[in-house]
Amino acid sequence: MLQRTRDGKSKTILVAGGAGFVGSHLCDALLARGDRVICVDSYLTGSTENVLPLKNHPKFRLVEKDICDLREIDEPVDQIYNLACAASPPQYQADPVHTMMTCVAGTGNLLSLAERHGASFLQASTSEVYGDPEEHPQREDYRGNVSCTGPRACYDEGKRAAEALCFDMLRAGRADVRVARIFNTYGPRMQPNDGRIVSNLLVQAISGKPLTIYGSGEQTRSFCYVTDLVAGLMALMDVDPNPNAPVNIGNPGEFTINELAEMVLAMVPTGSKIVYKPLPTDDPQRRRPDISRAKDLLKWEPKVALAEGLQQTADWFTTALGEATSRRAPERVTRRPFVAESLPLGA
Ligand SMILES: NC(=O)c1ccc[n+]([C@@H]2O[C@H](COP(=O)([O-])OP(=O)(O)OC[C@H]3O[C@@H](n4cnc5c(N)ncnc54)[C@H](O)[C@@H]3O)[C@@H](O)[C@H]2O)c1
Repeated sequence: MLQRTRDGKSKTILVAGGAGFVGSHLCDALLARGDRVICVDSYLTGSTENVLPLKNHPKFRLVEKDICDLREIDEPVDQIYNLACAASPPQYQADPVHTMMTCVAGTGNLLSLAERHGASFLQASTSEVYGDPEEHPQREDYRGNVSCTGPRACYDEGKRAAEALCFDMLRAGRADVRVARIFNTYGPRMQPNDGRIVSNLLVQAISGKPLTIYGSGEQTRSFCYVTDLVAGLMALMDVDPNPNAPVNIGNPGEFTINELAEMVLAMVPTGSKIVYKPLPTDDPQRRRPDISRAKDLLKWEPKVALAEGLQQTADWFTTALGEATSRRAPERVTRRPFVAESLPLGA
């Protein structure tokens, strides 16, 4: 395997899922560092709107492709970030077979690409690999409590299988692979209708609708602001030596959903009230990352407090929803790319 140097020179970096919420912020940060970015996306849950400001950037290239069909890219790449996968439960459950295939076949294709190009590879895994955890907070050596037959299995087990594939490639010396276990992340460019808790509550409050809480609201989550996550992903990709183990990336602050809803109500001028609905199947009760490994190996920890990040996200949603209303456009607009190339099937 050809090992690329980590000498600080500008790199060519493929970001699969780069037109999504997290991926678009990652593209921004890589370009700001001076790297060349090839964004590969099928627009399943992402949008060209997210990368619209990058349209004319000389180092940005947009390729429309499903990673399940991606066999090759027509220029050398130094690093591959794999963020391609629907991340919100309603979206990944809409076509669960495709979600599983994205995790397994798609990740397999990108790992093969990394092997052929001698590129470092970072897999965006998830705290969902811990399922409904029996240990708290979750350390990387906790093996999880996951259903392999429930409605969330296409994602949870898909991501676990993807991790297995990653570590097999790493152990075999076929690719330089790193695995980030990402915990709940929020920020500008989340989709207003994606069913995730932060976007749900903010959009409901801004639109004056009731705030929906599933279950008692006493279940906990930790919330990481997107710029903190991106910094953690880049640190993990670039750290030397390879940690040879998964690394939790998230914010260890723990809040109940009720506390989050109260913060939203205090922040957004609204007459909305909270309504409670039944908890969906397999919804975890507690989530908080132990980030000792990231602190130790990457010298990374989140910097943005929830109140600060939530305010920035609320401001962004207020503007975005206002623009959508004035355009009389649906909440998700552009699915087709502005200048994206389409690689032939099999490429
Ligand atoms: N946001 C979070 O809180 C969170 C938490 C844990 C893990 N993650 C992981 O981080 C990654 C990014 O999440 P996000 O929140 O930005 O989600 P997102 O849905 O906004 O982004 C995913 C992107 O991948 C693209 N995509 C999906 N399937 C594809 C396929 N088969 N081929 C090509 N492109 C495809 C989508 O169009 C979208 O642009 C995902 O892999 C997700 O599992 C996110």
